[in-house]
Amino acid sequence: MKKNDFIYSSDQVTEGKTKWTAPSNIALVKYWGKKSIQLPENPSISFTLSKCITETKVIYAPKKRKKEFIDYDFFFEGKYIKEFDEKIELFFKRIYKYIPWIKNYNFIINSNNSFPHSSGIASSASSMASLSVCLMDIERILFPEMKLNYFNNKASFLSRLGSGSASRSIKGPICIWGSSISFENSNDYYAIEFGENIHSVFKTYRDTILIIDDKMKKVSSSKGHELMKNHPFSNQRIIQSNKNINSLISILKSGDLESFIKIVELEALSLHALMMTSNPSYILINPETLNVINKIIDYRETTKTPICFTLDAGPNVHILYPESFSRKILDFINSELIIHCKERKFILDKVGIGAKKKLIL
Ligand code: PMV
Repeated sequence: MKKNDFIYSSDQVTEGKTKWTAPSNIALVKYWGKKSIQLPENPSISFTLSKCITETKVIYAPKKRKKEFIDYDFFFEGKYIKEFDEKIELFFKRIYKYIPWIKNYNFIINSNNSFPHSSGIASSASSMASLSVCLMDIERILFPEMKLNYFNNKASFLSRLGSGSASRSIKGPICIWGSSISFENSNDYYAIEFGENIHSVFKTYRDTILIIDDKMKKVSSSKGHELMKNHPFSNQRIIQSNKNINSLISILKSGDLESFIKIVELEALSLHALMMTSNPSYILINPETLNVINKIIDYRETTKTPICFTLDAGPNVHILYPESFSRKILDFINSELIIHCKERKFILDKVGIGAKKKLIL
């Protein structure tokens, strides 16, 4: 399927409402650097989460305010927020070509996060994914013969145009986005599921997110991707990420935790090293992030527990581990790591299956 396969139009939708949740995801091999409109410079792979979700409700009706190009009102947790509204407007402008029927309707969109907005956890992936599945649900009324695979691929395609990493939040527990010679059907336009061939240990993997700082990021990820354009290590990064994807694909099938840990931690540190060596450079981790990382490495070495860390574009630490070690690792977090967390906050999450339709009462 190519990008042009997603363009078609119809005017037959009547009024109605739909509600979906979509989760956040945590990249194991990171997407960093983009080209053209939201296409990745390198393939990425992620665990879909299940607790950190956005719930979006869309009420739609035939348009009355004729002069508006795309007619919508967007509320986040019941409030109008200018910055979010601008993101939604850009999203609608980008997706219009692929779902042109939206020009005939007006939309009231309400989004809520399961995690606090001020937790420092990026919500763009879950919010763009949940809005995209709502729009696809409406489109499915127009095209009832639509296949599930098409629904999922196009929802991912639309999400990508809102936020690249959002493309990986439609399905789970593992998704690949970006063309890789090591994975059949992988492509730059939308993410695909890793499929059934995953070692059982990864089907219930845990991600405990330590909130080191709950402020919004100092540098937006868009700016970070932009800085990869003239980055001295950009070519090397493309080579490195492709190699890591290739290794990780075998590891996810074999369940080799030692190799999993090496790649995941290397990816997290490479992401931040790229930020620190861009021009202008910037540092998003802080001393508490490093304290936590060092304690995790020490604990792993002394107790031989398969625990590892990864990072997003911020200071918070994602701790990844097999479900069977949950009790032991929770004790470690409570006794050793919680003191480094902002207001002792952390979120217990685990891998999940992606977007879900909710009942509207
Ligand atoms: O989707 P964006 O544009 O917010 O970029 C996200 C980039 C990282 O979270 C740092 C890595 C990733 O692959 O999710």
